[in-house]
Amino acid sequence: MRSPQTVVSMIGTRPNFMKMAPVIRLLADHPDEFQQVVVHTGQHYDRAMSDVFLEQLGVGAPDHVLGVGSGSHAAQTARIMDRLEPLLLDVAPDLVLVPGDVNSTLAAALTAAKLGIAVAHVESGLRSFDRTMPEEINRIVTDQLSSLLFTHSPEATGNLLREGCRESDIHLVGNTMIDTLVTMKERCDTLDAAGAHGLQHGAYLVVTLHRPALVDGPLLRVALAQLELVAQSVPVIFPIHPRTRAAMKAAGLSAPSVLLAEPLGYLEFLSLVASARGVLTDSGGIQEETTYLGVPCYTLRDNTERPITCSVGTNILLGLDPMRISEIPELLRHAKPGGRVPPLWDGRAALRLVDVLREHAVVDSRPHIGMQ
Ligand code: UD1
Repeated sequence: MRSPQTVVSMIGTRPNFMKMAPVIRLLADHPDEFQQVVVHTGQHYDRAMSDVFLEQLGVGAPDHVLGVGSGSHAAQTARIMDRLEPLLLDVAPDLVLVPGDVNSTLAAALTAAKLGIAVAHVESGLRSFDRTMPEEINRIVTDQLSSLLFTHSPEATGNLLREGCRESDIHLVGNTMIDTLVTMKERCDTLDAAGAHGLQHGAYLVVTLHRPALVDGPLLRVALAQLELVAQSVPVIFPIHPRTRAAMKAAGLSAPSVLLAEPLGYLEFLSLVASARGVLTDSGGIQEETTYLGVPCYTLRDNTERPITCSVGTNILLGLDPMRISEIPELLRHAKPGGRVPPLWDGRAALRLVDVLREHAVVDSRPHIGMQ
């Protein structure tokens, strides 16, 4: 019998817990095939941004926590690399699995690749074609360093092929974040997050805004003023990301008619979104979750790296123009229910991904003819 593959599974930020949870659980269920080491970079560290997710998603405590915390892009990336390198040298894995597009993703991919360890990228190939976004830089570099590229949509596969990635390295497995949603949906449905916040089902707008382009400058003031206006006709709830809260505090901004909440746990947030009239966001993952749930989504960005949520799902790009927030009540009045769910967003993406890992082990254990 072949010895198990050693796989390091990286986590570190809120959106990536949901992308990795089903993969981590599956690998843990097959100890005869996979010896897994879960490493949390600590990029997100507040209880509400991290621990509560690991508890709700059944991931449990990571094997290692690097505790890097916040910092400039260079400092955060460097700190992760510095702390991960000795760990990878010690564990000597066959593969490092990195999800998404955050600084933790890039840092782990770079560290592993420089040590000659294979990198597998979960949610590969997404492109906004906007290099002012830190995430776009992280995506491009991570994909170039990865030898297993797991995509969730045909557009992502197309982007990788155009950038010269080998077709044999690309695997269209579907959306592992939607796996998590499918697994948790029943539990979400038993919660009444709307009621807990004094909101009526189907009659409120959920808002999440945290991207630097929007919150680290003058646009945040305009966005809050527009939300204040919208809240006169539709109740608005806004669970606030720490970055946004800090920016509001620094600029002395408030929105008295908007229900400002702390960041919510995964189950509470999904429950809130599932029974919302609509969602306004600049997040990536929420564009996908609303598409799956059939909830109208308005994205306050000029572009999206997830175009399938617009062509197939419920997403509409408003542009990076907070004045357009005022159109939302009218847009909601005319929103048609539905949209479709993209193929392979079916709750089985992690199963397909782990099958590829099995195959990869077989390929890699073949004798390398001529390599002496
Ligand atoms: C990061 C990701 C972004 C993702 C977002 C989801 C990068 C480049 N960006 O952005 O793609 O959509 O996570 O949340 O990696 N903070 C806390 N507590 C925490 C975490 C952060 O207070 O647990 C505060 C700190 O003041 C920090 C700021 O939030 O400076 C920003 O955090 P950081 O991880 O640098 O980036 P995000 O804005 O969260």
